[in-house]
Amino acid sequence: MANVLTRGDIISVDGMYRRLQSMLGDVVPDVELWYKAGLACEINRLKEERNAVILGHNYMEPALFFSVTDFRGDSLELCYKARQTDKDIIVFCGVRFMAETAKILNPSKTVLLPSLKAECSLAGSITAGDVRRLRDRFPGVPVVTYVNTYADVKAESDICCTSSNAARVVNSLDSEAVIFLPDEFLARNVARETGKHIIFPTTGELSDREVELDYQLIGWRGRCEVHEKFTLEDILNVRKQFPDVIILAHPECSPEVVEASDFCGSTSAMAQYVKQTSAPRYLLLTECAMGDNIAAANPEKKMLRLCSVRCPHMNQITLENTLEALQSGRHVIDLPQDTIQRASRAVERMIAVS
Ligand code: 13P
Ligand code: SF4
Repeated sequence: MANVLTRGDIISVDGMYRRLQSMLGDVVPDVELWYKAGLACEINRLKEERNAVILGHNYMEPALFFSVTDFRGDSLELCYKARQTDKDIIVFCGVRFMAETAKILNPSKTVLLPSLKAECSLAGSITAGDVRRLRDRFPGVPVVTYVNTYADVKAESDICCTSSNAARVVNSLDSEAVIFLPDEFLARNVARETGKHIIFPTTGELSDREVELDYQLIGWRGRCEVHEKFTLEDILNVRKQFPDVIILAHPECSPEVVEASDFCGSTSAMAQYVKQTSAPRYLLLTECAMGDNIAAANPEKKMLRLCSVRCPHMNQITLENTLEALQSGRHVIDLPQDTIQRASRAVERMIAVS
């Protein structure tokens, strides 16, 4: 650990330590804060040298989140930042589909993802071939895909959406039916919000029942392996012990969980909600690191934790591999030109609607 401290400028390491200490000193021991301050200073020095920008998703662990990211936010906010940047390199502290979206929106830039293990169960739940097969089964029906998909799936889509604009995107389409992929729970939540009837077609030929149904949304059974784990029972148990708690759920949670919560929104919408309200205590039903970040930014607020559920993909991104990404220029996100062109139509169309 001491090694890293000597590499950077000791004064800036000291300043970084004090910054992290003021936010995390109650929960992170000094030895770790010094270690991370040293890594962060070296990252920031290299960032300047390489003319890079670091984008950090709200799920990044607190020390990384507050020390090296130039912009922090939810998927939609980071799309805007990736699109706007004039830096040569974008280091994406998030998961692969997010780094791909940055490449799609700003293809002349070098986009680096610090770990190739940073994937996503939703993005892995559907392929471009699946989308083409759905189009064949439902000819003429427009396809909306959640940004939590890989570039080749976006390329098969008419328009993308994020957790913060899904219902708006669906409503923007002048169509009686919409294919909405791949998150089952987000689709069910959108159906609830927009009053639409949803079906999940079985594979193979459409059954008579499906043909007869007056469907308006056609979903897919992809799940977020993190948000699917929160249950109604969790909420009832927490409310029993803390009747004054305000519960915030991400729209990737099941409709039962969303309905029993007090607020539902994107990761940034949840952070804003906590910042702007003054409840006795809050519980976030989402990746646990975000609760740590909100607690650090709002020390006067009480945050309850349900931290047995972590995103194994987001957790792959560390200060260590972010430093390696800048040192050795890895891992470069490379996409076929044709995929970029087709996917960018779907993402840009979403941005126009947002
Ligand atoms: P947000 O767009 O709300 O940040 O969500 C991204 C995500 O992967 C949630 O699991
Ligand atoms: Fe994917 Fe869920 Fe992890 Fe978000 S929290 S990156 S949706 S697996």
